[in-house]
Amino acid sequence: MYTAKVMDHFSNPRNVGEILNADGVGMVGNAKCGDIMKMHLKIENDIVLDAKFKTFGCGAAVATSSAATEMVIGKTVEEAIKISNKAVMDALGGLPPEKVHCSCLAEEALHAALWDYAVKNGKYYEGLKSPEEHSEH
Ligand code: FES
Repeated sequence: MYTAKVMDHFSNPRNVGEILNADGVGMVGNAKCGDIMKMHLKIENDIVLDAKFKTFGCGAAVATSSAATEMVIGKTVEEAIKISNKAVMDALGGLPPEKVHCSCLAEEALHAALWDYAVKNGKYYEGLKSPEEHSEH
């Protein structure tokens, strides 16, 4: 049912925790299951230097957020905006259809943290939506 990569990230999640004085923090909930995810980002000169997450959620949510933090570290904010739930799922070799919504939690938490960074720093990025707009689809 789950790929070896999903099982690896679930059993041995990367970047769990919080960042003190994070530059961007995003917390989102999944309306379908009630699970919650929080993402912390350290950003300097528009480059994501570190990312940490905490989730009160299922195994697929843990695996996708773990993979998303690995994917975002070292990226520019513009590149980070393009990390979609599909890109995260592809990196993990896919998810069962009924777990696709779990990967949306990782995307939304990441984008909410980027939005928080943008708002705090008075910046505008093409394609970056507010958490409210983002969760509408
Ligand atoms: Fe809630 Fe997966 S069942 S995030």
